[in-house]
Amino acid sequence: MSNVVLRDVKKTYPGGVDAIKGIDFEVGDGQFCVLVGPSGCGKSTLLRMVAGLETITSGEIDIGGRVVNQIEPADRDIAMVFQNYALYPHMSVYNNMAYGLRNRGMPKPEIDVRVREAAQILEITPMLDRKPRQLSGGQRQRVAMGRAIVRQPKVFLFDEPLSNLDAKLRVAMRVEIRKLQRRLKTTSIYVTHDQMEAMTLADILVVMNGGQVEQIGKPLDIYKKPATTFVASFIGAPPMNLLSVAANDLGGTLDALQIKAPGDATLGIRPEDFALAGAAAPQGLMLELMVDAIERVGAETYVYGTRPRANGGPTVSARPGELPPGEIIVRLPGEAAPAIGERIKVSALRDKLHLFSPDGRSRIGD
Ligand SMILES: Nc1ncnc2c1ncn2[C@@H]1O[C@H](COP(=O)(O)OP(=O)(O)O)[C@@H](O)[C@H]1O
Ligand SMILES: [Mg+2]
Repeated sequence: MSNVVLRDVKKTYPGGVDAIKGIDFEVGDGQFCVLVGPSGCGKSTLLRMVAGLETITSGEIDIGGRVVNQIEPADRDIAMVFQNYALYPHMSVYNNMAYGLRNRGMPKPEIDVRVREAAQILEITPMLDRKPRQLSGGQRQRVAMGRAIVRQPKVFLFDEPLSNLDAKLRVAMRVEIRKLQRRLKTTSIYVTHDQMEAMTLADILVVMNGGQVEQIGKPLDIYKKPATTFVASFIGAPPMNLLSVAANDLGGTLDALQIKAPGDATLGIRPEDFALAGAAAPQGLMLELMVDAIERVGAETYVYGTRPRANGGPTVSARPGELPPGEIIVRLPGEAAPAIGERIKVSALRDKLHLFSPDGRSRIGD
């Protein structure tokens, strides 16, 4: 068993930065866990504490049934892959992969078997004699992975390993990492700020913000039922539309839909949950929008619209960090072509609507 358990883990850096404010979660044996959140939220700090590269201020980290708080990194049976690859420039690819095993005194023939096997899995056998500078970014990334694989550790730790690659290669390597992990079945914790990477890689997703966990769950469960407005706007792109509403706002539409907001609330609708409203009887929430801007990206069209003021009344106001008053993003099929300045009607089904407390910290209604 090589699960990883974090119990009320906290980190205060010297100087008083509370980087991690009390985090609990468990990664099951063989699971792929992704920590996702904006830059500075504490992802690397948490991963480095699991690796033993940072001390733990309080709480407990348990790997495979053993509390490792006081155990040296080399004795934790983990292997880490860093964003900058951290390869030795003067060593060949072969030696970069063999180095850690030699340091442990492993017999040469066994090292050779492990290095060649990893090279084969990663398709870098023809490059074993090259130096890192003779490799492309993607190939260097494979060598860094290879160095982790040969260790046959209980746990892989990845800190934004694809961030230095161009967009196309990032997608290709993402798929490879997932295939590799399925094959090796090694418990993994993977850090990224990229929600798409997080959604596609994770068995279990931990969304972090400001040194705390916002939500833990399966990626699609989090997408379908974000627990807070932070999660709602971080997971999914373009982000969920968030509007501050009074219970009787939107011309009584919420009442008509039998959505009971206990006073003011925040209403959330994902851009992809809107459709152009046809002539048929309106279903769900209907909004009229004045088209401000259009982005056509081929398979889909993003429409940026503003809700016209009703009877000269105020538009719904947004809080800092949310959409400007009344602005809505709608995702339509690629062939949809409204014109700028046009008024369009869009609708979203009732079960696609999300309701949060006014401060966005909790989900209401389900
Ligand atoms: N060695 C350090 N000393 C003091 N503060 C640090 C140190 N490393 C990181 N921090 C702070 O801790 C917080 C979390 O950083 P980090 O874990 O690197 O975030 P992330 O990886 O999510 O971008 C940030 O506010 C950062 O400035
Ligand atoms: Mg980081």
